[in-house]
Amino acid sequence: MQYKTQFIKIKDLPPADSFLSSSESAYLQTLRSEKRKGDWLGGRFALKTLLARESGLLPVCSLPPARPQTLDTAQEEGGAPLSEMSVAALEVLKKIDVVKLPSGAPQVFVGSVPDARSVSITHSGSWAAAAVSAPHTFLGIDLEKIEKRSRAWVEEFFDPTEQDPATEAHLTTVWTQKEAVVKLLGRGLSLNTREIIISADGLRLTGRALEAWRAASEPRIILNSVPFDNNFIFTVAFAPASAGAKFGRILL
Ligand SMILES: CC(C)(COP(=O)(O)OP(=O)(O)OC[C@H]1O[C@@H](n2cnc3c(N)ncnc32)[C@H](O)[C@@H]1OP(=O)(O)O)[C@@H](O)C(=O)NCCC(=O)NCCS
Repeated sequence: MQYKTQFIKIKDLPPADSFLSSSESAYLQTLRSEKRKGDWLGGRFALKTLLARESGLLPVCSLPPARPQTLDTAQEEGGAPLSEMSVAALEVLKKIDVVKLPSGAPQVFVGSVPDARSVSITHSGSWAAAAVSAPHTFLGIDLEKIEKRSRAWVEEFFDPTEQDPATEAHLTTVWTQKEAVVKLLGRGLSLNTREIIISADGLRLTGRALEAWRAASEPRIILNSVPFDNNFIFTVAFAPASAGAKFGRILL
């Protein structure tokens, strides 16, 4: 596998000040809604634990499991419940700083050194998730609850070719794929999701989405969508570094 993921139940998080860096703690104070605070903390915690696991900063047994069994058929690697993470392990997480770039995309610093790996964060319902891949690769993830979408919403954000079948599962899957791609391109919803067209044949980009992809040296994007926790869809958009790319992410 060329990327790794970590899922966290937001209600299980340890206290914010036990794992946030000082700049993250200051940013948390600027957030107003409790829902937004929980989502933001969940994404940070998932990413920090994932990076600590992947960097060998902490033994796997001191970290929460990377994913629940329901995500796919893979066996879980083991790990401790969140409530059993030691103070020493949480102190390690404090040294990992996840900063928000002007585009909204996350950028990791370990100590004060920028981490070159590609990372992505998503949150939906009671879950937060994060993913990491090697430097010079491209990565975007999205988790969405399968639920009824209004006709007006579908017509605003979907190309006509994407609207059939109009089932909740299909539309949610396509939406997660669009969102994962806008994150992979580092642009978020500044891109028009109708310019990212998903079909059984693959992914087609037009307009500014196509320009963004060209500016990133035309990475070969692979989409992987899986059902998650009964009524969610989780998508990873991943691309190895393309030949001409100087870096995997587009920092805006
Ligand atoms: C990114 C976006 C598609 C996310 O959609 P969503 O389904 O509502 O939310 P998700 O939970 O799946 O993802 C949110 C995460 O995407 C990430 N993200 C935001 N903008 C991103 C971008 N341009 N590129 C890559 N990732 C981005 C962030 O990590 C964010 O979580 P955090 O703010 O808690 O760190 C959309 O909300 C967006 O474009 N946001 C940008 C808003 C922003 O901050 N703009 C800054 C200029 S004002």
